[in-house]
This record gives sequence, structure tokens and C-alpha cells, in this order.
Amino acid sequence: MLGPPGAGKGTQATLIAENLKIPQISSGDLFRDHQDRDTELGRLARSYMKDGVLVPDKVTITMVMDWIEQNTGVGGFLLDGFPRTIAQAKALDQALADSGGIDLAIYVNVPETELVHRLSGRLVCSKCKTQYHTDFAPPSEPCICDKCITELNQRDDDKPEAIKKRFQVYQEETAPLIDYYQVLGRLREVNGVGSIEKIGERMLKALH
Ligand code: AP5
Ligand code: MG
Ligand code: ZN
Repeated sequence: MLGPPGAGKGTQATLIAENLKIPQISSGDLFRDHQDRDTELGRLARSYMKDGVLVPDKVTITMVMDWIEQNTGVGGFLLDGFPRTIAQAKALDQALADSGGIDLAIYVNVPETELVHRLSGRLVCSKCKTQYHTDFAPPSEPCICDKCITELNQRDDDKPEAIKKRFQVYQEETAPLIDYYQVLGRLREVNGVGSIEKIGERMLKALH
């Protein structure tokens, strides 16, 4: 799942993984989990993520490859936010060479004005990590998770300066992957504007 910050990768990845009954992982979520557990990797990742820049390829690739190794042989998997650089894409191709690489890269296309609105209103449950949005998907009680009655927080990198940096990094380092997968004939572009349900239908159609 490829797309700019706030495109809805995480929202849709969760729904698709449930629908297809396959495991899914967000590299960003893996890093945030390390931060919650205050591991060495978590502290390293935080020093990059808080400013909206990418964590170095070497540690990112190792972390995601470990996850893939633990999740092979289950009929497929979905990656959200990885690869994000050409070097990561090449490492993934190499790791999956025996099975012919990834099947598809779904590029979620959303205009920047909409992205800023989505990111600046996002709230995340500090316990179960369910995502909400102050305008688009508000919790029943302000700032409280519907599922586990825990406080909702804003991500550090959803502050205005970090959002700006994330867009710049996306253009420079991640957008070139659109061409990379296009050339391989593996790219499917999905319009990421509309209701979460409608976009989910578009995604499943693109996948099938
Ligand atoms: P990561 O966690 O991947 O963040 P991101 O790419 O910036 O993407 P987001 O999670 O912000 O957006 P999303 O597309 O998942 O949208 P979401 O569904 O949440 O990465 C964070 C950081 O980790 C990076 O900056 C980097 O430092 C590091 N990192 C991660 N992977 C890395 C890698 N491979 N290499 C190096 N470093 C890496 O939706 C956003 C909001 O919009 C939510 O509030 C949601 O409710 C709302 N929303 C969703 N869909 C809709 C809709 N259809 N209509 C209205 N609102 C909607
Ligand atoms: Mg996400
Ligand atoms: Zn919760």
C-alpha cells in the first residue's frame, strides 16, 4: 500500500486484511510499538519520526524482513508504508525473489489539501491504536476511544511542521516508487477521496 501521509493506507489496510483474512503490517506502527516498549530501535526511530523524516533503510529493512519471515506461508500479506524508498523496494524484491515478488502495489491517490485536513484532525487510541478523526470519524465521547474507553492522542508527527516535512520527504523519496512499480506492471492506482467504505470497494476491485 503506497501513498502520501494521510492517504488512508492504515485505515484501508485494516479493512482489506480483515476481508481477505491475511496479516497486515504498517512499518510506522512497528516503529511506534517499539517506542511504546522503549526499545533501542524505538528510541532511534523516534529521533527521525518526530521530525517527519524517514528512519534509515538498513534498520527499516531488517525490521520488516523479520516480520515477513514470521508471516510467510499464511496465504499472503499486506504491507502498509513499506517500501518507501527505491532501496527498500529492491530489498523486498530480493527477499521475495523465489515467489516472484509482490503481486501488486496499490497507490492511494489523494490531493494535498485533503491530506492536511485528515492528518491535523487524526486522533489515535493510546491503548488499542484505533484511529479516529475529529470531523470524519469522531469518537462517541470527545477524545475517548469507543472500544476501550481510553484517552485519544495526537501523533507527534501530525503537528504542522512535521506534516510539511513528511510531504517533502514523500515527494523526494517515496513518489519515485510509483514509476518503479508501473514499469514492472504491478501498479494499481485507486482514488482515495470519498467515504471509507467506497474507497474500500475500489481497493478490493483493484486487488481482484
Ligand atoms: P507512517 O506511520 O507510515 O505514516 P504515514 O505514511 O505518514 O501515513 P499515515 O499513517 O499518517 O497515514 P495513512 O495513509 O496510514 O492514513 P490513515 O489511514 O492513518 O510513518 C510514520 C513515520 O515512520 C515516517 O514519517 C517515518 O519516519 C517512519 N517510517 C515508516 N515507514 C518507514 C519506512 N518504510 N522507511 C523509513 N521510515 C519509515 O488516515 C489518516 C486520517 O484520515 C485518519 O484520521 C483517518 O481516520 C482519516 N481518514 C482515512 N480515510 C479517510 C477518508 N476516506 N475520508 C476522510 N478521512 C479519512
Ligand atoms: Mg498509517
Ligand atoms: Zn482503544
